[in-house]
Amino acid sequence: MKTSMIPIKATALGSFSASSAAKDYLDEWRLVLSTTSPDADHLARIAEQLRTSDVPVAFPTETVYGLGADATRSEAVRGIYKAKQRPSDNPLIVHFASLGQIRRVLRGRDSSDQADPIPAIYRPLIRKFWPGPLTILLPNPENSVLAPEVTAGLSTFGARIPRHPIALSLIQLADVPVAAPSANASTKPSPTAAEHVAFDLDGRISTIIDGGPCEVGVESTVVDGLSQPPLILRPGGISLEQIRQCPGWEDVAIGYKDVAETGSQPRAPGMKYRHYSPRAPVFLYTAQTPAPSLDELMNLAIPSSVVGIVRTSHWNICATGLTATSCDEPADTRPLSQIANETSSASSYGFGGMLQNVHTELERRKIQERGIQHNGKQLKVLEIELGGDITNIARGIFGALRDLDQQGVDAIVIEGVSDARGDLAAAVMNRLRKAAQVTV
Ligand code: TXA
Ligand code: MG
Repeated sequence: MKTSMIPIKATALGSFSASSAAKDYLDEWRLVLSTTSPDADHLARIAEQLRTSDVPVAFPTETVYGLGADATRSEAVRGIYKAKQRPSDNPLIVHFASLGQIRRVLRGRDSSDQADPIPAIYRPLIRKFWPGPLTILLPNPENSVLAPEVTAGLSTFGARIPRHPIALSLIQLADVPVAAPSANASTKPSPTAAEHVAFDLDGRISTIIDGGPCEVGVESTVVDGLSQPPLILRPGGISLEQIRQCPGWEDVAIGYKDVAETGSQPRAPGMKYRHYSPRAPVFLYTAQTPAPSLDELMNLAIPSSVVGIVRTSHWNICATGLTATSCDEPADTRPLSQIANETSSASSYGFGGMLQNVHTELERRKIQERGIQHNGKQLKVLEIELGGDITNIARGIFGALRDLDQQGVDAIVIEGVSDARGDLAAAVMNRLRKAAQVTV
């Protein structure tokens, strides 16, 4: 199968409008497509393909790239599992463009009930965080229009309204609920740029929409408001602190474990699989542990003496190896809630800020290369520096793993961040713990 990469500019698609009289703006907002833009034309054709073909389409969201198919057609959904080589007992998130579209699914094929089928517990979250990086679990009705392959036999389905204008426009144009996992090959790091998708799925799908790099860089937060107390099943773009502030969510509990799952039945099926792993083994150094010595690096860099390092804020590399400079920087003593708020205000929710948050240029992390002599041996160090800002770390981490892996390093050593820095940090560490062979 030939794979085409189709560049689309979000800003060329048209404008978004919502009736100001609408009680709930998500209910009545529409994309008004430009009639003169070739980008809008291309997107309309891809939407048609998504609606009719059994081969999934890759598209950008604000979190990571998704691999989308019509969630109502079994053949189309099976196409996703096939392209990704993903185990089919791992359910998919269904993406929507409006609340009306979600309500139609919740009512099932033959219900005429007029009451709002969206459970009341979710209203404050929806108002605050949609469109955005939050996935909620909803009851799948008896007579559901969703293909059974979407839910992998569960009685619930995950739903999300993304805030990326290309994703929203694609779903609105296709006019079907869109099942979409991350567009990586199963077990590989999630794709945060169209090139990552191409690297994994070239020849397996026909269309990749290139909408530039993703704004958030880690997947959506998954919450279950149907259980008592409500649970966070996957940390992500929206933080625990932010969720806890919503009425009905004060007691929200953590429903994921931050270790590789063995034996016990995980609540979110995705938790039990190997995830986010490049080919090279990953060694994760948690925030409080000292940096590895040159001897340790030498031992990891077998057989070819090439090691990749992802630095965040404290490690410093020099002729004698890595040194931690953490003592030079004052510890962040502000309350967690303040840090969390700061993190979230970097990206604004709602339609106003939507277009501003679309990145048009890939901020490629440069790889620095250096040779170090140690005990008569030569060690080659390839280093990517992500800096100290957690928003940038989240945005760049999956790409850094992929870039180093493509250089053929023997091992990737990562300077972790403290989970206590807020939930985006916890989300990054959650992914890294799954990617790591060894956590130090
Ligand atoms: O940011 C995201 O959420 C991205 C973009 C493309 O939207 N999508 C994504 O999908 O990460 P995926 O399929 O890679 O991850 C879905 C996660 C898995 O951990 C899965 O187990 C969980 O959501 N999930 C989906 N439906 C579920 C359900 N009914 N019950 C429990 N967990 C569910
Ligand atoms: Mg995934």
